[in-house]
Amino acid sequence: MLVSPQGEGRSLKALGGIPPYSIGVEYEVVTAHVVRSAFQPLVREDWALPITMNILFIGDIFASPGRRIVEHHLQRIISDEKISLAIANAENSAGGFGITPSVAQELFGMGLEVLTTGNHVWDKREVYDFLPREPRLLRPANYPDPLPGTGLWVGKARNGVQCAVLNLQGRVHMSSIDDPFKKADELLKQIPDEVKVRFVDFHAEATSEKVALGWYLDGRVSALVGTHTHIPTADSRVLSGGTAYQTDCGMTGPYESVIGVERQAVLHRFLTQLPVRFEAAKGWVELRAVVIDVDEETGRARSIKRLTEV
Ligand SMILES: [Fe+2]
Ligand SMILES: [Fe+2]
Repeated sequence: MLVSPQGEGRSLKALGGIPPYSIGVEYEVVTAHVVRSAFQPLVREDWALPITMNILFIGDIFASPGRRIVEHHLQRIISDEKISLAIANAENSAGGFGITPSVAQELFGMGLEVLTTGNHVWDKREVYDFLPREPRLLRPANYPDPLPGTGLWVGKARNGVQCAVLNLQGRVHMSSIDDPFKKADELLKQIPDEVKVRFVDFHAEATSEKVALGWYLDGRVSALVGTHTHIPTADSRVLSGGTAYQTDCGMTGPYESVIGVERQAVLHRFLTQLPVRFEAAKGWVELRAVVIDVDEETGRARSIKRLTEV
């Protein structure tokens, strides 16, 4: 448990200013069933050790506007939030549709450690040969076995803590691929017991399916965050078993659009039902992410908070 010498949850104002031995920041933090303004200290009880296991997860990076805003903010976020593991969903990072090897390398070069994807991972054929060669680029694990790539990464975060990242995809209003619930069980069996910190990107359309998998994995993973809809939800919380949860992280890309796509083309499609060429929108860009504080010894989440950058 992270506590300051004065105890958790007291504001700097209440403490009468910044004491010489304790510094921190105030956030709107969501802990188990409680939303409050909390004092998050940058020291442990023994206040000699740094805070340890903060995970950053960035929602679907959409085309070059999404990549540029990540490039602009990522290193500052990693520094400000004391991030140990930076993950992003990159299924739309190449022109809005799919990902290429060069775009993946560009994103790794910015400081992202693991990239997850979703249904759009198959849009660019040049990534098919790349997936088996790049274990840090995941595709949903529950696609049929013969497809290239993997949905599980196990490795060390920048603080040396062993972590696992899982990528799964829903089946409600999506392709009828393998059962994500059973596949999650399979993947968890493959992860060594000593790897306590476990993050899941669940790429799915239906809120019900996302909430259900959240509860199914509650207490077995540190966090489950949804992607795919490109619309951030406001339901961040830590479930009773210790799993941080948010139904959808939202998109990192142009918001004057229809989920990233140039809006006139989408309107034409809805109004006429004719096929149209979709292109990435321009204009107002936002970065949507979550930061999850995990107890690296138990794997339980302490808190989850939403992050928006413009
Ligand atoms: Fe997406
Ligand atoms: Fe998707």
